[in-house]
Amino acid sequence: MLLYNRIPSIPPPLQKPTHPRNAAVSATATSAVSDDSLTSRGFIFHRTAATLNLDHLNAVFVAVGFPRRDPDKIRLALDHTDAVLWIEYEKTKRPVAFARATGDGVFNAIIWDVVVDPSFQGIGLGKAVMERLVTELLEKGISNIALYSEPRVLGFYRPLGFVADPGGIRGMVYKRKQKKK
Ligand SMILES: CC(C)(COP(=O)(O)OP(=O)(O)OC[C@H]1O[C@@H](n2cnc3c(N)ncnc32)[C@H](O)[C@@H]1OP(=O)(O)O)[C@@H](O)C(=O)NCCC(=O)NCCS
Repeated sequence: MLLYNRIPSIPPPLQKPTHPRNAAVSATATSAVSDDSLTSRGFIFHRTAATLNLDHLNAVFVAVGFPRRDPDKIRLALDHTDAVLWIEYEKTKRPVAFARATGDGVFNAIIWDVVVDPSFQGIGLGKAVMERLVTELLEKGISNIALYSEPRVLGFYRPLGFVADPGGIRGMVYKRKQKKK
């Protein structure tokens, strides 16, 4: 499990933050790529899942090797999600990047399902989604932000401010015991 480090390597804001309580909360100031620049390239940000086509989202999950999920269950999970960020490609009207966070809405959040369509990887969309999601959580005052990372993507999360095993803390996952036959 990776934990968000409050002394992130995200560049500091170029302008004074507008939010009085937190120095790292301005979405545009902490994002390497601005919303305008992404919009001009045909990418549209969405901060709710209301218009998200779940079959199209499933297609992205499958394309990156995640299992296809029951759309009804995805919708239910999204209803219980605190923050969602996804990017639509204007030309195809399909989602090309997605991430979401669940939590208690006050202290803790866990980020899940960070995916970018393989045809759109490597052009900054994953970073754009993650930066905005983290900023949104920080704006809500949520500072304990964690995620599970596959080993091959640790290098993606680290520059975004996430550290592994902070202070020796290890994530543990419940693993159901196999019944003896
Ligand atoms: C991991 C993933 C979300 C990254 O999205 P992306 O849009 O391709 O990444 P970006 O283009 O925004 O890259 C941002 C930075 O991270 C780096 N980066 C991207 N993937 C990386 C990886 N696997 N390891 C190390 N660095 C990585 C990029 O080089 C870039 O560096 P820069 O800012 O110095 O130029 C995407 O590759 C993906 O969907 N992978 C499959 C699903 C997956 O593994 N999700 C994570 C589950 S834990």
